[in-house]
Amino acid sequence: MKFGGVFETHWGDSAKAKFVLFLLREILKGRVKACARFNGADNAGNTGKENGVEIVVHNLPISVCVPGVDSFIAPLCLVSLPRLFSNEMPELAEKGVRFDRLRIAKETFTVLQWHRDIETLEEQALGATKRDGTARGIGPAYGDITRKYAISVADLLDPDALKIKVQENIAIKSMIAGLAYLRRMENQTMKEFLNYGEQLRPFVVETDPYLCKLNHENRDDDLILLQQAQGAMLDIHSPSYPYVSSSGMTLHDATKIFRITPDDFEFRIGVCKAYTTSVGKRDFPTQLTDKIGLGLQTRGAEFGRTSGRPRDCGWLDGPALRHAIFLNKLTHLFITKLDVLDQEPEILVCTDYDREGQTLSRAPRLGLGNCRPVYRSFKGWQKTTAGTRKLEDLPSEARTYLDFIQEYAGIPYIGVSTGADTYDTIWIG
Ligand code: IMP
Repeated sequence: MKFGGVFETHWGDSAKAKFVLFLLREILKGRVKACARFNGADNAGNTGKENGVEIVVHNLPISVCVPGVDSFIAPLCLVSLPRLFSNEMPELAEKGVRFDRLRIAKETFTVLQWHRDIETLEEQALGATKRDGTARGIGPAYGDITRKYAISVADLLDPDALKIKVQENIAIKSMIAGLAYLRRMENQTMKEFLNYGEQLRPFVVETDPYLCKLNHENRDDDLILLQQAQGAMLDIHSPSYPYVSSSGMTLHDATKIFRITPDDFEFRIGVCKAYTTSVGKRDFPTQLTDKIGLGLQTRGAEFGRTSGRPRDCGWLDGPALRHAIFLNKLTHLFITKLDVLDQEPEILVCTDYDREGQTLSRAPRLGLGNCRPVYRSFKGWQKTTAGTRKLEDLPSEARTYLDFIQEYAGIPYIGVSTGADTYDTIWIG
């Protein structure tokens, strides 16, 4: 089998889920045998809209709503318990989603209530300089992996291994004043976690035999589609550090997890919004704090699906785009939410950063604080493109804008999204 990759080029929230659904339902119909997430947990909010019904996933890959495709949660994702069982799966089941093709790697780790409690306490301790995350406990849970006492899905299925991990975690976490109560909680915690294990059991697979089986049962040109959660600028090692998420979310991480090389990919598509947004505290060079930014926020419905927070909006950040292309060796772009720019008389693109007199054409490895945007101006089209499905139906100014992005990026755009519905898409191929 081959691999395909869907990455996001900035700070997330560029309608990756819509694009993945379009690929699964149309362009790669029947070829994708498994769709896998390889980072993050319920800090992500992926929304697909099909036939007017909105499907929102957090832990799960959006492919759960497509019959005939395995949805795989790969190692180094986190599974957020109990949210998965108490909220996400029941809400999806009500919309008719079935979970018969859900596969969860046994080697995946967990986010638990104590991680959310630790994040809350840490944010309180930091006060004004807090990291302003999604409050889902993502940082503390990834921290447990590097500190080597994280609880894996495999542990939840093995009472003896689990007991040791629970005791270790209680010993360590109860040293935090606000979590001292955990010392009395061993029995209750064991019971609760074993119960999660039983709920997970029907979906659990061991990664390598599972991938071997997929390979064996399918044709050479069938695909495993890897979907990144969040976006290049939220990777733990991105220029936005420390205002980043805590997972590795690059091509490098995906190849490590799946034990493949970049050559095993047929394509790696970067989903790039026609303007740029960011939710949460960080340096955001192209941020618009004026009424243009507010207009983009309103028309683009730029409110976090997970946290409900308004997203900051700005012009397309080119150096960040180049960073994502470089890091993930992207082969194509898919441009989303073009229609949100419909009303603008003038549209700017940040082509470079000016960092204290030095011109940077790609985001630096660390720190965006002193980066001032250098803009290039484009005439807006001021006509509606919403719902357009053919390239030739776009206004010439919109084509000029897209062609510039392609030339600037150095890779072609293969499609454009002009609305939330899966089929409000121009496909070029
Ligand atoms: P954490 O992932 O909860 O640690 O949050 C760290 C930062 O990443 C915060 O600024 C979040 O708003 C941001 N973030 C995390 N997940 C997403 C996402 O799926 N979309 C956009 N921003 C995200």
